[in-house]
Amino acid sequence: MRLAVASDHGGFRLKTEIIKFFREKGIDFEDLGTYSEDSVDYPDYALAVAEAVAGGRFDLGVVCCGTGIGVSISANKVPGIRAALCHDTFSARMAREHNDANVIALGQRVIGSGLALEIVRAFLGSKFQGGGRHSRRVEKICGIEQKYSKKN
Ligand code: RB5
Repeated sequence: MRLAVASDHGGFRLKTEIIKFFREKGIDFEDLGTYSEDSVDYPDYALAVAEAVAGGRFDLGVVCCGTGIGVSISANKVPGIRAALCHDTFSARMAREHNDANVIALGQRVIGSGLALEIVRAFLGSKFQGGGRHSRRVEKICGIEQKYSKKN
């Protein structure tokens, strides 16, 4: 499994903790920035992860900002991305099992890094259950994207 991870300045310290965790666990990842606590714009970093996951270069993505809200909203604008803002392990597991989420968003200013790492672990350790109703609902999400997608 190959992961893309990014944050803005507000999520930089949490991203650093997550990367440390990935290294310790031997998890294959790429850090798409930002690389310091200098102020940046969160949509740029959410977009980098979202495009990399939607394009198939990575299996899953992790995005962090101060609240997790800005990066989740931004990532979800990219067709094919289902970004879930999770601040508890149950939601992280459900996001994979029921929603087939392919990006998790976290807020550094909301939870501590210990809980955040448990949440990431729950997300990565869960799989889409598929089957009738869950697949049908995810297909309906794709249908909404198609309905509102603009031709470039
Ligand atoms: C940056 O100050 C902050 O607005 C950002 O990290 C994030 O919380 C936005 O949703």
